[in-house]
Amino acid sequence: MGKTVKKAQIFVDKNITISDVDRRIYGSFIEHLGRAVYEGIYQPGSKFADENGLRKDVIKLINEIDVPVVRYPGGNFVSGFHWEDSVGPVEKRPHRIDPAWQTIETNEFGLHEFMNWTKKVNTTPMMAVNLGTRGIEDAKNLIEYCNVPGGSYYSDMRIKNGAKDPFNIKLWCLGNEMDGPWQMGHKTAEEYGRLAAEAGRIMKFVDKDIECVACGSATSNMPTFGTWEATVLNESYDVTDYLSLHMYYGNRDNNTKDFLANSVDMDNFIKSVVSICDYVKAVKRSNKKINLSFDEWNVWYHSNEQDKKLEKWVTAPHQLEDVYNFEDALLVGSMMITLLRHADRVKIACLAQLVNVIAPIMTSDTGAWKQTIFYPYMQASKYGNGTVLNTVVDTPVYESKHGDAPYIDAVVIKNEEKEELTIFAVNKDLENDFELTTDLRQFEGYKVVEHSILHHDDVKAVNTEANPDNVAPVQGTNTKFENGTLTTILPNKSWNVIRLAKN
Ligand code: AHR
Repeated sequence: MGKTVKKAQIFVDKNITISDVDRRIYGSFIEHLGRAVYEGIYQPGSKFADENGLRKDVIKLINEIDVPVVRYPGGNFVSGFHWEDSVGPVEKRPHRIDPAWQTIETNEFGLHEFMNWTKKVNTTPMMAVNLGTRGIEDAKNLIEYCNVPGGSYYSDMRIKNGAKDPFNIKLWCLGNEMDGPWQMGHKTAEEYGRLAAEAGRIMKFVDKDIECVACGSATSNMPTFGTWEATVLNESYDVTDYLSLHMYYGNRDNNTKDFLANSVDMDNFIKSVVSICDYVKAVKRSNKKINLSFDEWNVWYHSNEQDKKLEKWVTAPHQLEDVYNFEDALLVGSMMITLLRHADRVKIACLAQLVNVIAPIMTSDTGAWKQTIFYPYMQASKYGNGTVLNTVVDTPVYESKHGDAPYIDAVVIKNEEKEELTIFAVNKDLENDFELTTDLRQFEGYKVVEHSILHHDDVKAVNTEANPDNVAPVQGTNTKFENGTLTTILPNKSWNVIRLAKN
């Protein structure tokens, strides 16, 4: 069969909206794991390091993305972490084993270094407390250290350690993946729900303005998925502001069509968690709405086999260093669209992670470069600001392991203030281009600014240090806005950003 141009249509109304975008949906994650911190964001002695050992080349790439929030310091790591080890004079900080990743943590980079780094990359912290091996006493001490201005044991310790002003960290994760048997201090839903309730309560006694994220399931495939969420919320409803979701996908069967359909699964996952939150709300006769924090999402599988061979109890091994290919970028784009289509409930999301460890940015001693997934993430953060329109896509579908999967995934965002309109669209058809039309008569006077296309003939194409621009966006020339109708061609297997503006 020859290649044909298929057709799809988008329907939007500028007054029928889903929600304003909470910019924290473009968050990311730095864990003390592999080379995320050491050799990633921090490498004293490197020719790229500033006076504090922070890598300037990495800062530049992160600033290009514009990451509004970064979750820290884990992940599985946090469930055995003693935050006190990571403050005070560096030479006195202990080296500890990290049982989660079976490495040695030197604590050379700690809380103050992280807070200093957040300023360089213009982001805000999303701090996790250890509810695995520790509990509410340490959670209380940590928030006292971070947020109390002074005059108490831990706040004065912070001042003595060089930070006169409080860190004022306002977003807190109550532990990490506590439903997972791999988690240090793994708990039942009842045990965790009670602990989260008490930790959140004491933390809010110390600072009433913080927001707390309670752990949902580690993935929707967990045997306790559903009952875990309901039980945890039942116990911790009053202190919980967001419930977390985590999900990673892989293409282990080398079936690209099924792999790209994983956004359907993500969509179902979000809908299910929203339903559970609303069920508990109804049972509690509460007026409070629990929103979602999708604080770990990405593709992760390429490095699984090589990670099994890594030496144990060393510092900063090459762990979880997935080299992302072009099809991964298509799925990441499609997942980003899925998050935006749920912007009414998903207020925070963290692409996991940010540097070297399952990350859009990679480093070596000689430079830093962009993986394929950098582009959809960066472009969404840069151009996906404003209000998400209820985007109805009329598209053919294909059969997948998750049922019918649309060939075209899309979302439209209007920015009233800037008089801009952005369409993000993925064409998942591996052979055929699509002609996409959209009635935009309500956007009279707007003009096409650009049509950026990420496409490669080879879905397995990657970016490497030697060939960093192998997969990179190019400008399309097939987009017209005439007589109120936008017409464009979405090339087969492509991520597209179509931008219009009035001026
Ligand atoms: O992001 C890598 C790991 O994935 C995190 O440490 C953990 O929370 C999840 O299982």
